[in-house]
Amino acid sequence: MKKRSLIFSNSTITFLAIFLVFSLLQNGVKGQANSQTEFAIWDSNGELVKPESYREWIYVGTPVTPNDMNNGKAPFPEFHNAYIDPVSFAAYKATGKFPDGTILVKELVSVGSKAAVSGVGYFQGDFIGLEATVKSADHHADEPGEWAYYSFTTEAGQALKKSSPKFETASCNTCHQVSAADDWVFTQYYPILRAAKAK
Ligand code: HEC
Repeated sequence: MKKRSLIFSNSTITFLAIFLVFSLLQNGVKGQANSQTEFAIWDSNGELVKPESYREWIYVGTPVTPNDMNNGKAPFPEFHNAYIDPVSFAAYKATGKFPDGTILVKELVSVGSKAAVSGVGYFQGDFIGLEATVKSADHHADEPGEWAYYSFTTEAGQALKKSSPKFETASCNTCHQVSAADDWVFTQYYPILRAAKAK
């Protein structure tokens, strides 16, 4: 009897050990798949597929260019809620550099109201667009800094595009290259990235 229960507990331990190794391996594989490509995905036409889960990425800030301060039509109206994929955020925190595969999006949101019980100001209204930038040696070898720019924004009231070709360098990249504070990214307007950057 005693022997049997010993055998049982030995095999339980063996089973648990195998289970543990298996789950570690599985997590390792998952971690690898997460490392770069999961967030920026290109379709067979070379277009960037609209990311789905970006509101669960790391939020980095909200520049706001209201239409009423930009001759009635800001180039990117109006709030820009910016997010970075979590794997690249962790790398940026650790190394102070945006790794290959970094994707940032800015989700455009209209000004919904200019007064609230807290006072007058600008308050977010509706989602109206989505832009993205990706750093990729594979896909953007010819672009300055290996960054390229994409837009899923459509006419007002229409659903966002499901994929986007990259813009010409002169349309987007050049301004980012000249004016952004850190590797084509406007970290001067994202306090969360500045605070995270490795010292
Ligand atoms: C005249 C300069 C200029 C041009 C041209 C420009 N941008 Fe930007 N972009 C900015 C500035 C400034 C910010 C940060 C402040 C803001 O959002 O208003 C920004 C931020 C972004 C961000 C958030 C991540 C980051 O790099 O800071 C994305 C995504 C983006 N732009 C996409 C685009 C796309 C797509 C185009 C081309 C259609 C484009 N931009 C053209 C100036 C520019």
